[in-house]
This record gives sequence, C-alpha cells and structure tokens, in this order.
Amino acid sequence: MKTLIVYFSVSGKTKKAAERLAEITGGELYGICTKVVYPDSFVKKVVIARREFTDRKYPKLVGDAEDFSSYDRILIGFPVWCGTCPMAVSAFMKKHDFTGKTVYPFCTSRGTGIAKAVADIKADCEGEVREGLRMNKADEEEIILWLS
Ligand SMILES: Cc1cc2nc3c(=O)[nH]c(=O)nc-3n(C[C@H](O)[C@H](O)[C@H](O)COP(=O)(O)O)c2cc1C
Repeated sequence: MKTLIVYFSVSGKTKKAAERLAEITGGELYGICTKVVYPDSFVKKVVIARREFTDRKYPKLVGDAEDFSSYDRILIGFPVWCGTCPMAVSAFMKKHDFTGKTVYPFCTSRGTGIAKAVADIKADCEGEVREGLRMNKADEEEIILWLS
C-alpha cells in the first residue's frame, strides 16, 4: 500500500505530526503551500480564515504533490481553523481526484476535536473517508490502531 501524507501547517505543529506519521507509516510527505502566505498575527489569520469560509474562497496553491494518482492511502492533516479544516486543505481536495483512495484525516488544535472537519471533508471528497485523529496527544499505539 502506497501512502502519502499531505499536510497544511502554518506554525509547525501539524508538520511535526505529519513527520511522525511518515516515520510510522514509511509514507511520503507533501506540505500544502498557499500562494499568499498567512500573516503572523493570530487575529489577522482568524479574520482571513473566517472570510475564506464565509465566501467559500479557495486560496491559490503553489506546487503540487508528485504522482498523486499512484497513492492508495492519503493521510491529510491540518490545524483546526474556526472549528473545521482550513480552505487551503479544501482547495487541495478540490484539485485532486480521490476516487478509490482511503483518506485518513488528522489534525492539531488548541482543543477542538476533529469531528466537524471530518464531516466537512466527507461532504467534499470522493474517497473513502475514515475516522479522524487529533494528533496533539496521540501516542504510537493510538496511531497504529487508527490506521488499522
Ligand atoms: C485562524 C485560526 C483559527 C483557529 N481555530 C481554532 C479552533 O476553532 N479550535 C482550536 O482548538 N484551535 C484553533 N486554532 C489553533 C490551531 O488549530 C492550533 O494552534 C494548531 O495546532 C496550529 O497548527 P500549525 O502549527 O500546524 O499551524 C486556530 C488557529 C488559527 C490560526
């Protein structure tokens, strides 16, 4: 089974979680990059994110995951933004055909769970979307159970 770990991360926490998953699964890593970089200020990011959600505005992405169609299992990671997954992740999903792929959503957050994000991903994605995992405190045993 070929695994791709796609992640979006602004301050590095989700990137770290993705790197852990790459070690555990042996999968390839791909970081989603937006053309316009989000500002450092938390308040400004919240304002932009809220506007993106309200307007269903997909940020432009830079670069792409190589050979996406060859992967069977996609682990897709993001920071929870305003209760769900950032529009940058929705933009990546919109751009790719997930048909026939198994999708495992994971997140990091300050406290919000992943359930709403998973429901939103399911509504947007043609792949088979499995249960999500909030990675903040997940240990290796929990990760292996989640993937099985
Ligand atoms: C725009 C924005 C909105 C956020 N909304 C939430 C939220 O609704 N719930 C939550 O628990 N954390 C929220 N956070 C915190 C991030 O999910 C958390 O800090 C995450 O671990 C950051 O991941 P990163 O370092 O990969 O960017 C928000 C952060 C930002 C910047």
